[in-house]
Amino acid sequence: MNTKSSILTLFSLLLLLLLAASSFAADPDLLQDLCVADLSSSVKVNGFACKANATGDDFFFQGLASPGDTNNTMGSLVTAANVEKIPGLNTLGISMSRIDFAPGGLNPPHTHPRATEMVFVLYGSFDVGFITTANKLVSKTINKGEIFVFPRALVHFQKNNGDAPAALLSGFSSQLPGTQSIPTTLFASSPTVPDHVLTRAFQIGTKEVEKIKSRLAPKKK
Ligand SMILES: *[C@@H]1O[C@H](CO)[C@@H](O)[C@H](O)[C@H]1NC(C)=O
Ligand SMILES: *[C@@H]1O[C@H](CO)[C@@H](O)[C@H](O)[C@H]1NC(C)=O
Repeated sequence: MNTKSSILTLFSLLLLLLLAASSFAADPDLLQDLCVADLSSSVKVNGFACKANATGDDFFFQGLASPGDTNNTMGSLVTAANVEKIPGLNTLGISMSRIDFAPGGLNPPHTHPRATEMVFVLYGSFDVGFITTANKLVSKTINKGEIFVFPRALVHFQKNNGDAPAALLSGFSSQLPGTQSIPTTLFASSPTVPDHVLTRAFQIGTKEVEKIKSRLAPKKK
């Protein structure tokens, strides 16, 4: 990593801290210094039960250090750094992810039910946007070092508009933002949404619904 990109990364981390400190945090406030998630506990609470004796490793993750493999249908890969990867994030109300894109790659329209998201362009150029509940598209082209915000729960997308690989760093106002990708939510759920619901909703025929379903179906390993 060169000095310039280190500075960019540092800058984006600072922004993430600001995001965390703001009153827009979506997750509840914490009631103690820390509550490292005991991911294996059978105790069910809002979030995760706290485990005893936290260590540095509970607050550490190196999974965003290198690009993810974007050789897939959409040409993009989201690598999450949330409470499931970093148990120390439990009750802290923030998380991050890194999104890598092949040339022309798309992170298809999706929503995070529990978080506002800020993206910072690590490298490349993107067409990004979200759609409001009044069905208005709010969009922008963003380049290296620039930021865009996706308000909590609104459907949004990011597309690499260049002919080289590109990457984004995201900050979230939740330890576990949750993601519902519109295409796979509607056409690749388990069990599947009935064809007659989708033919009526999208005003298309059963054949077309089946075609979309087959293309989005999870690949058999
Ligand atoms: C936590 O650490 C303390 C002090 O080292 C020890 O007495 C205690 O048994 C530990 N608790 C657990 C759950 O490991
Ligand atoms: C991408 O994935 C396909 C299917 O798994 C594989 O055949 C191809 O070799 C991969 N390409 C690269 C550049 O890894």
